Amino acid sequence: MIKFKIGKDEREVLDYSNLTFFRKLASKIRDPRTKFDVKEFAKRGDDYLFNYVNKNVGSVDEKRRKFLKSLVFGIAAAAVVGIIPGVRVLVPPTITATSGFPKSLLVDSSGNPIKASSLPVNSPVIVLFEYPMTGEPNFLLNLGDSKGNPVEIPPTTVTIPQTGKTYQFPGGVGPNKSIVAYSAICQHLGCTPPYIHFYPPQYVSPAQLTASEPDQLSAEALLAAKQNHVAALIHCDCHGSTYDPYKGAAVLTGPTVRPLPSVLLEWDSTSDYLYAIGAIGVATYPNGANGVPSKDPTDDLSNSYGRPVGDKSTVSETENPFSS
Ligand code: FES
Repeated sequence: MIKFKIGKDEREVLDYSNLTFFRKLASKIRDPRTKFDVKEFAKRGDDYLFNYVNKNVGSVDEKRRKFLKSLVFGIAAAAVVGIIPGVRVLVPPTITATSGFPKSLLVDSSGNPIKASSLPVNSPVIVLFEYPMTGEPNFLLNLGDSKGNPVEIPPTTVTIPQTGKTYQFPGGVGPNKSIVAYSAICQHLGCTPPYIHFYPPQYVSPAQLTASEPDQLSAEALLAAKQNHVAALIHCDCHGSTYDPYKGAAVLTGPTVRPLPSVLLEWDSTSDYLYAIGAIGVATYPNGANGVPSKDPTDDLSNSYGRPVGDKSTVSETENPFSS
């Protein structure tokens, strides 16, 4: 369970399935294709919201109905200020490196194992795999410098700005120790690709400031890249959150107050295969008591929204926001 704070009221509690549901709802509300009509919502309230959810997120059963009613205040406020407050103050549960996740071989769409040496460096294409649940997208990145040479990603300490706590990111894997994987769900309000994506070095430039969405950097992100001598960025075009892919997806600019959780990767140097073996960072599967993952994370997973991906996860390329 997660404490969910709306305004000064801290009594609400959010379980993982509601959190996942909320993420989907938040992302639909922001999606121009399923535009949430604020005026209609103001006029018709719950009625409009239930219909909207039914149409765009999924059927509304009694449990969801209750949950949605508890959200109405937050969404109404959001309609006024343009964002959904409350989610920003989701209290992250204990930081954890959870063991017991499935060990999943990363394969291509034909089921053939992905070879680490074949992953393009600094690819502008969004490369994703689901882990540990279906519906949980993660970036697979082979990071390089501005000349396109792979860059070794050392272990680093990542700070969670929301709490000031830290955790250890183990660094990159693969022949050049340059391959990393991070959740592709923005930790601000849950935007997913293509709205959150990787900006390789050639796109971290002032020209990007005037590009059309969803491939538009914020001025703050550009400045952060410069100040931190970062060649590439993960940036969320929804509200401008920026993450440092070279340092465990640490926060470079808000509004997010949490880094992207990392998927732990293992590289088999004999076969050149890559495996997802766990997750680290802000706990994202907190169905155990008080937001602390269960001893056996498969318990948490089986209670979650999707189902475990199992011993294989397919790596796919998704919509590329860059026109060239
Ligand atoms: S969802 Fe708000 S910045 Fe990503």
